[in-house]
Amino acid sequence: MISLIIIDKDKFQYFKDDILEIEKASFPSPWSTNAFREEINKPVSHLWGLIINEELVGYICFWEFAGEIHLMNIAVHPDRRGRGLGRYMLNRMIKAGISKGSQTVWLEVRPSNLAARKLYEKTCFRETGRRQLYYKDTHEDAIVMSLLLHQKKEHLRGVGRTLHRTCLI
Ligand SMILES: CC(C)(COP(=O)(O)OP(=O)(O)OC[C@H]1O[C@@H](n2cnc3c(N)ncnc32)[C@H](O)[C@@H]1OP(=O)(O)O)[C@@H](O)C(=O)NCCC(=O)NCCS
Repeated sequence: MISLIIIDKDKFQYFKDDILEIEKASFPSPWSTNAFREEINKPVSHLWGLIINEELVGYICFWEFAGEIHLMNIAVHPDRRGRGLGRYMLNRMIKAGISKGSQTVWLEVRPSNLAARKLYEKTCFRETGRRQLYYKDTHEDAIVMSLLLHQKKEHLRGVGRTLHRTCLI
């Protein structure tokens, strides 16, 4: 059984250890407990958790405002990667954006993060610019990518089917 749930204050308290474990295993400068709490308290911010058989295996955080979505964070537990779960969360976020009338999704990614770049490229994001020395920890630029949502509508009609085809849960 797989589901994507909204992580509010109470759910965060419940899943905090799982979220922080994934976060620490995923990023050189992981978000702290307080950083997640701040996101939960921001009206523009959405944090969703991916649950499989009652276990939290990933999450996605994004801002939604002024007709735009900004992807802030996405991670899948290292043991669960490569099974279509990252793509599933990304597509669900995009689908929600389309249904609310958002027009563009923006994100930043490290040039060294080949797995994430491939995921975004396969989801039809395109590089639109660079931010110089954006990541202070590794002194990397950020690649800025964007996706125009009207181009994505047709493609997403089969998101549920895509999950079952590619996701070996
Ligand atoms: C990026 C991340 C979320 C991808 O999640 P995932 O569930 O493993 O990805 P999926 O299985 O959905 O893969 C979707 C596509 O991404 C690409 N991809 C995923 N992992 C890859 C890897 N290790 N190498 C190359 N391409 C990869 C593939 O193109 C794949 O499509 P395919 O299987 O049809 O070839 C995951 O690697 C992760 O949590 N990384 C650490 C956190 C992170 O870097 N987040 C992004 C910050 S910008």
